[in-house]
Amino acid sequence: MSLIVLCAGGHARVVVEALLSRGIRPAAVADRDAARIGAAIGGVKITGSDDDVLKMPADGVELANGLGNRASRGDSGLAGRRALFDRFAEKGYRFPVIAHSSAVIASDVQLGAGAQVMAGAVIQPAARIGRNVLVNTRAVVEHDCIVGDHAHIAPGAVLCGGVSIGESVHVGACAVVLVGVKVGAGAVVAAGAVVTKDVAAGGFAGNE
Ligand SMILES: CC(C)(COP(=O)(O)OP(=O)(O)OC[C@H]1O[C@@H](n2cnc3c(N)ncnc32)[C@H](O)[C@@H]1OP(=O)(O)O)[C@@H](O)C(=O)NCCC(=O)NCCS
Repeated sequence: MSLIVLCAGGHARVVVEALLSRGIRPAAVADRDAARIGAAIGGVKITGSDDDVLKMPADGVELANGLGNRASRGDSGLAGRRALFDRFAEKGYRFPVIAHSSAVIASDVQLGAGAQVMAGAVIQPAARIGRNVLVNTRAVVEHDCIVGDHAHIAPGAVLCGGVSIGESVHVGACAVVLVGVKVGAGAVVAAGAVVTKDVAAGGFAGNE
């Protein structure tokens, strides 16, 4: 079945690489910016818009979320990535799990629809990863962690054992979340932070 990457930004290039590492060449990239049609990312052509994809039967194509996010102190910046996923998933389009060939994923890990595990990431036993979650380059998710839908574990971040990450949380690059800590939905963990205590929903954890 052919696979289309939605949104032709920087993250989409990483998604295309992950797919290519598995020998899967996406059929096309879709982008809502009509001016970009005809260009290519990672050697894959941008052939149309999101609306063009919606004209295809939901059971005739698979999709990958190519939209990244930019977090700030009060906002995980993940609403757009979530909305793009929901727009298509609600209409029955399928988002397969995408894992780079260099990712290490324990045999009993649960991965929700559309979960993305990028190059060098490691996910250890009994971890549960929600839908549309991004475990980015070289991130580590240790045993028994729970990562809620739409969360982003950014490059190099480490979730120690038994950590719980809520929906749409951004864990910044190279942050470390210590054993058993719970991070509430929509919270932001700054790049490089060491999180020793629970973080409230919508809260912020960073090195002052
Ligand atoms: C913490 C964060 C969310 C703040 O973003 P923001 O609200 O836009 O804040 P700004 O970038 O305007 O920075 C505000 C201040 O905090 C400081 N700051 C920003 N990020 C910081 C961090 N991670 N650790 C320590 N200080 C930080 C800035 O230097 C600035 O200090 P100043 O006021 O003295 O100049 C953001 O810097 C961050 O860490 N994002 C995660 C990025 C990431 O993981 N990306 C992955 C992409 S794949």
